[in-house]
Amino acid sequence: MKVIEGSTITSASESTIDCHQHQLVVIDDQGYIARTVDETDRDFASIKATAAQAGQLTTLGADEYLLPGFIDLHVHAPQWPNAGVALDRPLNEWLDTYTFPTEAKYKDVAFAKRVYDDLVGELLANGTTTVLYFGSVDNPANLELAKACINHNQRGFIGKVAMDNPDQTPENYRDASAQSAVADTERFIHQLDQLNQTASIKQTAVITPRFVPSCTPESLKGLGKLAKKYDLPVQSHCSESDWENGYALAHYHKRDSEVLDEYGLLTDKAVMAHGTLLNQSDLDTFKARGVAVAHCPISNVYFGNAVLPVSKLLEQHVKVGLGTDISGGYSPSIYQNIRQAVMSSRMLNDGVNSELRPEQRGTSHQPISAKNGFYLATVGGAKSLHLQTGQIKAGYLADLQIVKSPLKAFDDESMDQVFEKIMYHASKADIKQVFVQGKLAATANS
Ligand code: GUN
Ligand code: FE
Repeated sequence: MKVIEGSTITSASESTIDCHQHQLVVIDDQGYIARTVDETDRDFASIKATAAQAGQLTTLGADEYLLPGFIDLHVHAPQWPNAGVALDRPLNEWLDTYTFPTEAKYKDVAFAKRVYDDLVGELLANGTTTVLYFGSVDNPANLELAKACINHNQRGFIGKVAMDNPDQTPENYRDASAQSAVADTERFIHQLDQLNQTASIKQTAVITPRFVPSCTPESLKGLGKLAKKYDLPVQSHCSESDWENGYALAHYHKRDSEVLDEYGLLTDKAVMAHGTLLNQSDLDTFKARGVAVAHCPISNVYFGNAVLPVSKLLEQHVKVGLGTDISGGYSPSIYQNIRQAVMSSRMLNDGVNSELRPEQRGTSHQPISAKNGFYLATVGGAKSLHLQTGQIKAGYLADLQIVKSPLKAFDDESMDQVFEKIMYHASKADIKQVFVQGKLAATANS
């Protein structure tokens, strides 16, 4: 058992937060929150005293706050060495010139180990407790990523990337055939099962067709069958850019989402990155199938060719969470992505072309708030991955971050003010400790 005493902030709904000035969060030996106890509760003093006596009490400082850990729904682990590089190139050129050659280097397992240890520590240091990762084509490197997650105490969802279309992938970095793409994916599922036998934080294999252009119809079909056979999550990119959206239309005479759906890849465990160009019919399919969108607002500035109308997705009850999309997005911080999600939504609403009259300039999509962003980063991500986490609440996994107020307070501040200052200013220097399933995580700060 473990007890954390202090101020807590958790999402209560898409647009509201629940704050407690002085609470005990009781964590059981399985790493779940057993109960939360308010100062007014008559057990408060006795629970606190018992925990203190047993050396199980952590008390936060007056300027520290307990928040749920963040969930990053879209990271390309092998692209970490490229964070911030060549973002001025269009998506297809960026992939061919910078990204595929970088990912090809992970045939070298020692290189993979070096990068992945650093990346997992960095994401944890930024308060991210669960990550949905794209690995690379090569399984030995993907297993290093899983080992890094296990060693640092991070919950990873990890995909062996499948990309077998010789027209859209380089010769030195692709699956040799559709059959081997599917067979290697199945092998990775079993290898991860093995690793999990001795892991305290379990890792999950994810079916990962890179995106429609990189794959042949045969590999998409085989991967859809694997997703069903093992009942595993699926991840891919969908309608990210004009070029990508146009590819399915030109080659299949269908929309991106229709191609993925035809092969059984749009399930209620599927997370599709970006979706900036999804139309209403795509959104209807996503809603009907229970597909989630990984909104990657920083990456979208460079490659998305449009802004995802987040408020529309929330109104229509399409699942949506946040992703950094390293290295399409330059930052490993979900805080930064909350900020960009808010700012991009404001520009979508206002419009940006000063030559147009105000009433013609923007769209009817309402901007989102910092509270909406916090919801996406916690509850939205948890729902997308079917995890009982993302909230400070009895029965939920104790995935938590202790955050020090990043700025001085010059007067009494309401919890709403504290919350907004944390959302807009927190960086990894302010994140003091991170717990995953009740276990202290090994962050780049620790
Ligand atoms: N589409 C296919 N691969 C990628 C990738 O690595 N990053 C992004 N942003 N989009 C992709
Ligand atoms: Fe991506």
